[in-house]
Amino acid sequence: MTTRIIGTGSSIPNRKVTNDDLAKIMDTSDEWIYSRTGIHSRHLVEQETTTGMASDAAQKAMENAGVSPEEIDLIIVGTVSGDMCYPSTACLVQAKIGAVNAVAYDISAGCSGFLFALNTAHAYIQSGIYQCALVIGAETLSKMMDWNDRSTCVLFGDGAGAAIVKANNAGIRAITQHSDGAGGDVLVCSNRGSNNPFVTSDTKLDYTKMEGQEVFKFAVKMVPKCVQEVIEKAGLSVDDVDYFLLHQANKRIIESVSKRLKVSLDKFPTNIEHYGNTSAASIPILLDELNRKNTFQKGDIIVMSGFGAGLTWGATLLEW
Ligand code: COA
Repeated sequence: MTTRIIGTGSSIPNRKVTNDDLAKIMDTSDEWIYSRTGIHSRHLVEQETTTGMASDAAQKAMENAGVSPEEIDLIIVGTVSGDMCYPSTACLVQAKIGAVNAVAYDISAGCSGFLFALNTAHAYIQSGIYQCALVIGAETLSKMMDWNDRSTCVLFGDGAGAAIVKANNAGIRAITQHSDGAGGDVLVCSNRGSNNPFVTSDTKLDYTKMEGQEVFKFAVKMVPKCVQEVIEKAGLSVDDVDYFLLHQANKRIIESVSKRLKVSLDKFPTNIEHYGNTSAASIPILLDELNRKNTFQKGDIIVMSGFGAGLTWGATLLEW
């Protein structure tokens, strides 16, 4: 028994912000951003929330799968930008969609959040504990950016994506997951002051800080490695894979991975141009877009790979 994706959904905020829009509020240009990242625009929340977008994506995924909220046993949301410290985004989504029989909690794994959530749901399903799960990646990183740091804030966007997964004979064939906490200081957001009256603290709210070139080096080294690892675990070769769905962090990272794996870039669908880096939401948004275009045929082999803060990275190989 394994885990099959039977439905997908996504939700994008209305407000589109182009590189030219950013150039009106900071010293940057479409040429600089696009040539280094492949991003032309991103969508940023105004009235939307992490919970609202996650719930919207979940509704669409349930409709797409033909699954009722009562059938869902487990809800896991990969996010680092929930609306509240607690309750978890997953519990807030549970209430909104009426998944009264589910257990719900979040996973914090940066941009690997959706993938790690999917792999966790898979472990439960494979072991027979649960049969049907809702897995979500949802972020509003715009509220956690330093909008004076032009080298980082231009990269990110907001959004949510979701998948309904169910026990089935075909689906996930292999997973691999890694963390390196010791290397995590290249991408951090402390963003939490202390309100403890017994502690003298000058901690102030802080925003995302990234050493871009270090993160770039980490990604182009580790992503091809873990993709190869998951393909080997599944007993397949790189040529057997029909699609590589990578976290949409940077077009140049995706190009480098395709080169290192010696696989045509045509097998690496992207949408970073329109959404920027939506962190944990990027893989499920891309998955949903492709699913709704009927891109995948039954039996297609798909490798998904996420990487980001932690540091965390991993890959999942599945048969569609
Ligand atoms: N617009 C215009 N100029 C900018 C700019 C912007 N938005 N941001 C930085 N610059 C300038 C810098 O100030 C610097 O100028 P200087 O040479 O006069 O000092 C110059 O551009 C080069 O900056 P640098 O940081 O060396 O650029 P880079 O080529 O390394 O590209 C990133 C920066 C962030 C695009 C790149 O490192 C990257 O994509 N890293 C990976 C980040 C990522 O994917 N993170 C998420 C992982 S989940």
